[in-house]
Amino acid sequence: MKRIHLMVATRPNYMKIAPVWSALSASGSYELELVHTGQHYDHLLSSAFWDELKLPRPVVNLRAGSGSHARQTAAVLIGYEAFLQESRPDLVIVPGDVNSTLACALAASKLHVPVAHLEAGLRSFDDTMPEEINRRLTDSLASIHWTPSPDATDNLLREGIAQEKITCVGNCMIDSLLSFLPSFEAAKQWEAFGVKRGEYVVVTLHRPSNTDIPQRLESIVNALVSMGKSVPVIWPCHPRTLAALEKDGHDSRLRAGGVRLCDPAPYIGFMSLVVGARAVVTDSGGIQEETTVLGVPCLTVRPNTERPITCSEGTNRLVEPQGIEEAFLGLNGAGRGSARPKLWDGRAALRIVEDLAERGWASHA
Ligand code: UD1
Repeated sequence: MKRIHLMVATRPNYMKIAPVWSALSASGSYELELVHTGQHYDHLLSSAFWDELKLPRPVVNLRAGSGSHARQTAAVLIGYEAFLQESRPDLVIVPGDVNSTLACALAASKLHVPVAHLEAGLRSFDDTMPEEINRRLTDSLASIHWTPSPDATDNLLREGIAQEKITCVGNCMIDSLLSFLPSFEAAKQWEAFGVKRGEYVVVTLHRPSNTDIPQRLESIVNALVSMGKSVPVIWPCHPRTLAALEKDGHDSRLRAGGVRLCDPAPYIGFMSLVVGARAVVTDSGGIQEETTVLGVPCLTVRPNTERPITCSEGTNRLVEPQGIEEAFLGLNGAGRGSARPKLWDGRAALRIVEDLAERGWASHA
């Protein structure tokens, strides 16, 4: 039986890997090992998700932790190379675009272990984003590319990746979303904040391009404080963002303005907040996709997106910090139509199992 490693490293990896784990496991054709690089290590960004998403405990935690890009990537490279030599998998599945994605793909490729990239082909065409570099390099190393949408497939073809290495399988994060939707509704997380469904805004921001540029962060804070006068604003805050807010005293201004700064929420609690929100203000990747399927208006505080389909078919809109409030006011309760880009249907992980079988990976033992 072929042995497959599935990598997890940071918060959004869990929702993408969980359905793949479950579908591969149900096929009975593979020996699976979950590898945690330890890039995220706080309980609320990491282990809080295992039980909710019914993932097993990882067989190893490489404890890469935080650091500069070079240090973090190098720590995963060194740790994963050693584990690869011990475990000797036949295939490594890496999701997304974080530093660990690239590091694991590189370590595996150098040891001649084939790599499958889950969520391949996304491009923001913005090399100032570390994720864009991770995406392009991972795609250049991978032997199998599972794309979420046709634009991603086109990007790979344009870069000279051979057609036979690419399969458009759809969106695994949406597999998780659709299977947990009843739990999001049942959790009614808005009640914990004493607000009514459809009458509050959820915020999540963590990109260095927003948190590490003081004028930009201040401008975002100004917008949220101003919006907070007319609508409840709930902000489950990433640790790096909280540190940046505290550095300049923005946390006190936000709290004084009624913005509810709170700890990062686990999957079901957070998505329950999103399901009931009037709008979401974010710079996350996955939330642009989730809000599109849920029909919740999404204001993405970035100059570009690697997920253009969420703007062309969904509820997403790119805004600058100075434009957040105006864009929110312009929503007028509109834009709640749910959109399901093709193959965002809850069956992406099943298509991955089929694709591996067609590529001759399945064991018939
Ligand atoms: C990383 C990914 C980003 C992804 C995000 C999801 C890269 C380059 N970035 O960003 O693409 O969208 O994860 O959340 O891979 N920290 C903690 N506890 C933790 C982890 C981090 O406090 O468990 C703090 C540390 O101060 C750390 C900082 O957050 O230095 C940044 O962590 P890091 O993993 O480098 O990047 P993220 O911003 O989390």
